[in-house]
Amino acid sequence: KIVNVILSGGVGSRLWPLSRKSRPKQYLPIFEEQSLFEKTVIRNSKVCNQVMVVGGVDNYQLSREILNKEESSNYLELVEAAPRNTAAAIAFAAFSLPEDAIMLVTPSDHLIGDQDVYDTSINQAIEMAKKGSLVTFGLIPTKPETGFGYIEHEGNDVLGFREKPGLIQAQSYLKQGNFLWNSGMFCFEAGTYLSELEKHEPEVFKTSKVALENAKDGFLPLDLSMEIPSISVDYAVMEKSDKIKVVPSSFSWSDMGSFEALFDYYPEGSKEKVDGNLVLGSGKHVEFVGLEDVVLVETKDAILVLNRSNAQDVKKVYERLEKEN
Ligand code: GDD
Ligand code: MG
Repeated sequence: KIVNVILSGGVGSRLWPLSRKSRPKQYLPIFEEQSLFEKTVIRNSKVCNQVMVVGGVDNYQLSREILNKEESSNYLELVEAAPRNTAAAIAFAAFSLPEDAIMLVTPSDHLIGDQDVYDTSINQAIEMAKKGSLVTFGLIPTKPETGFGYIEHEGNDVLGFREKPGLIQAQSYLKQGNFLWNSGMFCFEAGTYLSELEKHEPEVFKTSKVALENAKDGFLPLDLSMEIPSISVDYAVMEKSDKIKVVPSSFSWSDMGSFEALFDYYPEGSKEKVDGNLVLGSGKHVEFVGLEDVVLVETKDAILVLNRSNAQDVKKVYERLEKEN
């Protein structure tokens, strides 16, 4: 049994105001009229025989709509009362599956190309997962991005995993040459993940187990969820486990996490690119004078203007607005 566990709990705060709590970025039909969520489901449907979505109360309806459309009515869903980060989200899925089920854990918000290359990497990972490894997918880094995890490797062996290093660290990783970006997708047996989680983060293990045991029809209870420490799988398990392996991969991959990623995604000459600037969501005629590398985003009730190099700071705007409301 191979299950595609889709993590869909993030709000995509760095893409505000396109991305909203009520419609996070993975559900926006911004790429060839398909949402990133839908693309994820389709991409993995060849290799996986089941889909399990772990999402939040604010958006599970949006996942359902898409899954019903994809006629993969054979899906499971877990609905979080509050986001408790990815270590717990993956644990909920693992606790719900047989120990030897293979989990292909994927984000719901990435853009991936080269399906054949992708399939080959996944199949390789599945074989390694069957032998008890926690498998990551590594991509060749092209810049010292600080928003990613870095995998130091020798072939499939992992020498070290470092989540979101500082800039100087990231620069030295690029220079050393034997580091890959962590794609954010993982493959392992449910039992392997749970025993590594128990070993390295026993508190997350215990509290997510209790929360899941008290779930009703897949809906997790809020009070017990709040007991779970919020930590990502990267810090909780990947940085610590000695069972990690990597499949060095070369499919095209973009984490559509920020406006800088979108800036890079849209080619010069597309209607979104105006004189070296990016315009999204505006139906109006836009002109730039003396400006480059600017991103302008317009929605019904908000306008955002920023320099692309400040793309990571949009999260702060989102957080401030959340607090004020
Ligand atoms: N269900 C659920 N619950 N999903 C969640 C939660 C949660 O509490 N928090 C985050 N997610 C989902 C997000 O929606 C996304 O699909 C995925 O889990 C990863 O979370 P991100 O918040 O996007 O992580 P990141 O981008 O900072 O870092 C991860 O991905 C990078 C590549 O894109 C790490 O794995 C990095 O190491 C990696 O390089
Ligand atoms: Mg991400």
